[in-house]
Amino acid sequence: MIILGIESSCDETSAAVVRMEQGKRQILSNIVASQIETHRLYGGVVPEIASRAHIEAVSRITYEALEVAGVSLSDVECVAVTSHPGLIGALLVGVNFAKSLAYSRNIPLVPVNHVKAHVAAAYLEYEDLEPPFLALVVSGGHTSFYRVDGYTDFCEIGSTRDDAAGEAFDKIGRVIGMPYPGGAAMDKLAYEGDASAIKLPSPALMGDTLDFSFSGLKTATLNYINSERQKGVEPSHEDITASYTRTIVDAIVKKTDMALSASGARSLVLAGGVAANSHIRRGLTELCEKRGVHFCKPSMSLCSDNAAMVAAAGYFEYLSGNFADTSLNASAAD
Ligand code: KG4
Ligand code: ZN
Repeated sequence: MIILGIESSCDETSAAVVRMEQGKRQILSNIVASQIETHRLYGGVVPEIASRAHIEAVSRITYEALEVAGVSLSDVECVAVTSHPGLIGALLVGVNFAKSLAYSRNIPLVPVNHVKAHVAAAYLEYEDLEPPFLALVVSGGHTSFYRVDGYTDFCEIGSTRDDAAGEAFDKIGRVIGMPYPGGAAMDKLAYEGDASAIKLPSPALMGDTLDFSFSGLKTATLNYINSERQKGVEPSHEDITASYTRTIVDAIVKKTDMALSASGARSLVLAGGVAANSHIRRGLTELCEKRGVHFCKPSMSLCSDNAAMVAAAGYFEYLSGNFADTSLNASAAD
């Protein structure tokens, strides 16, 4: 089946054509128009600007995705679109575009949850992957563990109680002068510092819980930076980044170890933009090797927001009969 995926939940407009059949999953195209340069001026995503940029890009990106895939609109058998969660104005652009396309071609329209789509990215590269498994979604908006009991059946078993890991990286990145979003640059800089230079509080909450809290870590790091600056000293950005990253990686590895035990899962899927972090990937690779768990870590282009993952998730929603009509609305909430 040929599925057209549309994604516009935050600051990336994306369209993809994916062929999904039993035992065969093929990305025919996956076009992403990033607005990062526009939002960088403001140090973060400006929702109104994001919506306008999606309107300008969505049609062009979709035609490009069809062209690169070598298919025409009449070959598309289903339209899958991110309908929630995300920025409401941004989501509405993709949802309305997808509704019009599906209605005009008289083909099924499938609404997709953005977080489930991040997890579904793994199906595109790990053809033998099937539920049940444990998923860890780490992105700019989410840090959660899910027990994935079926292709569309998710149960959240742990999550952050405040900020997401991506926000935590971006915030400290900004304070030490990195352009938005600082996550990828911090990944590189962490190799140049001493990871044990600064003692920071762990974002892994104490006890049996699988929850995180990143706000205490952020505040402690900001306090350290400010107190050094008050002494007239600019603290080492390399040491801050290395220590901060080590603290986050240790917490993620610790809670993943607990989540694997609690769920009894034999496979772990890592998903979301922060899944591109090489330190997290290495820490979880070591953990999975030690535990004999199959570790699925999608390639970088499938970690950040893209429409191929939306089409993949849409396929399974289609199989479970989760269709929408022209009354479909977007929702900012999960
Ligand atoms: O999943 P995503 O593309 O968008 C959301 O749905 O949130 O994630 C974006 C987040 C940003 O916070 C960005 O800084 C972070 O992913 N990120 C990284 C890395 N690459 C992207 N964080 C840490 N290390 C990276 N290599
Ligand atoms: Zn995302």
